[in-house]
Amino acid sequence: MIELAFSILASDFAHLADEIATAERGGGTIVHVDVMDGHFVPNITFGPPVVAAIRPLTKLPLDCHLMIENPDSFIEDFAKAGADILCVHQEVCRHLHRTLQLIQQHGCQPAVVINPATPVETLIEVLPMLHHVLVMSVNPGFGGQKFLPLALDKIEHLAELREEMGLNFRIEVDGGVAHDTVARVVEAGADMLVAGSAIFAPGDPARTEQNAREFLRL
Ligand code: DX5
Ligand code: ZN
Repeated sequence: MIELAFSILASDFAHLADEIATAERGGGTIVHVDVMDGHFVPNITFGPPVVAAIRPLTKLPLDCHLMIENPDSFIEDFAKAGADILCVHQEVCRHLHRTLQLIQQHGCQPAVVINPATPVETLIEVLPMLHHVLVMSVNPGFGGQKFLPLALDKIEHLAELREEMGLNFRIEVDGGVAHDTVARVVEAGADMLVAGSAIFAPGDPARTEQNAREFLRL
């Protein structure tokens, strides 16, 4: 099953509850929460209090993409706030295995994200622990950027590894996934699609719902 993880980064924050309900009505299956700290990425968004505010609004899993330095210091807070999946960047984890264990100990599902310049090979040892691998198809920090095709080879490589190793982690892709790129991404083997600007049309809920519906009609 292909999942649509809609990124609330592109939504109207003043009406977050309505925006989530609309994307869910359109068929979105995961809420993708982009957490940015202004250090690892050149932008600041939201943290555990916003995750806690979203939690009672939906039964959909909350997929928290942590674009932060020192994720270990915040895992407990995000788990308590109600996150289901915690996705940490390979580039900031000096002891990636330990960080993934910590996520498991707090009752969340662990995932790892790799930037465009980070090779898939850096994850081979931890693949059996993961709910998913998130392949960035833009440099993280902002919505609305152009899709980088180098992500396609990485998705294919991960799909091969999943087969060879007999694993069942999911392959998520994030950044510039829109109507013109989604088919290539799915063909390469991705099964969790993050989309922000391709889904949310702030101020126009009918359009947002329609965008979500069309997105999944591959
Ligand atoms: C970028 C974020 C993405 C972003 C995607 O750093 O990780 O999740 O919201 O936005 P679009 O779909 O507009 O590229
Ligand atoms: Zn993201």
